[in-house]
Amino acid sequence: MNILDIIDKKEQNQKLTYEELKYVVNGFLNGEIKDYQMSAFLTEIDLLGMSDEETLDLTDIMLKSGEVLNLNINAVDKHSTGGVGDKTTLVLAPLVASLGVNVAKMSGRGLGHTGGTIDKLESIPGFKTNMTLENFQNQVKKIGIALVGTMGNLVPADKKIYALRDVTGTVDSIPLIASSVMSKKIASGSNKIVIDLKVGEGALVNNLKDAEKLGKLMIKIGKHYNKETACLLTNMNEPLGRAVGNALEVVESINTLKGNGPADLIELVTELSSLMVSMEKGISEEEAKTMSLENLKNGQAYRKFLEWVTAQGGDISNIKISQNKKHLTAPKSGYITQIDALEIGKLARNLGAGRLTENDKIDHEVGFVINKKVGDKVEAGETLITVYYNEKTVPDEEVLNCFKIDDYEVKPKLIIEKLTNLN
Ligand code: URA
Repeated sequence: MNILDIIDKKEQNQKLTYEELKYVVNGFLNGEIKDYQMSAFLTEIDLLGMSDEETLDLTDIMLKSGEVLNLNINAVDKHSTGGVGDKTTLVLAPLVASLGVNVAKMSGRGLGHTGGTIDKLESIPGFKTNMTLENFQNQVKKIGIALVGTMGNLVPADKKIYALRDVTGTVDSIPLIASSVMSKKIASGSNKIVIDLKVGEGALVNNLKDAEKLGKLMIKIGKHYNKETACLLTNMNEPLGRAVGNALEVVESINTLKGNGPADLIELVTELSSLMVSMEKGISEEEAKTMSLENLKNGQAYRKFLEWVTAQGGDISNIKISQNKKHLTAPKSGYITQIDALEIGKLARNLGAGRLTENDKIDHEVGFVINKKVGDKVEAGETLITVYYNEKTVPDEEVLNCFKIDDYEVKPKLIIEKLTNLN
């Protein structure tokens, strides 16, 4: 077997066997297959796709490239394919745990745009994101929730392949996304999985047809491993909530848990929570939704959040947000019809809220708070957005250009579609 023959075979659109895919993945992992050969292979997949069987095989090979955890507890996991202002986990995880459903979650740091969930949590002074597997399991057993950065050696093949995809324009391949996400979810040991699949300009997948295809593929992979999987297709055409930036997003999450959050974040969190709770408890989604809304209102979800933060060493009394702020105002009156999520994400990164390379240091204190969301009416001179900055700044004009103001009103739709095991 050799890599050139395998690339040739793929080029001729012939199906690759399990053994051939294993040869490529393992060869790349141990350095026998070079970056330039692997990028040629990934480009062929990006162009020609893969059959479902090949995707299942690739997932299995990636999964077995490292440790596969057995948590010894029932837990539900949630994954987001990534969005700007996406602080969902910070609200959702304690909410679900407050309803008696275990959440044992591994999250990542963000590359590009704003930080990942781990970066956001690290803006809480003292919050520890490293734990042994034993402590992780014990914490879930004790309080129903634990969240860490990657633990152990889970799916090393994805780490290496993803880094190459990132610089070779092959991140948006459907079979590669499906195998990357699902291998990590299966390796991290939860028995049920809910995926928040973002669709839109600020997301990896920007059209509904591809999103449906990807969602169905991930459900099929989950089923193969006996993990019930559901997928919510949600809009990423504007940032989620109002805050973009690490500490700002933590503060927004705390306010949401205290019953005072932005409507789109509450809608997304309660939809995901009703899926997770209904799957685990075997109750209807309507009942689970009522319970979720109730626990956001009555303080139970917030109390669970405090219990969780305390268990991981954090103290929310001293979260730092930059004192330097600037309000940018609307140049004309009308309705907000669009906010460019991708551009806001890039500008937040330029302020220091995200990384360009793995070793960049994040400034947790900076970012944006959006005052006018899509669908809102605005008068000329009213604040559209507030910029929180430290050493790095971004041009006001570039921030204001992210907002489209028209003379007609639009109604944003957050939840696009729900895909479950049943359909
Ligand atoms: N998120 C992942 O973990 N992998 C992908 O390929 C895309 C999004």
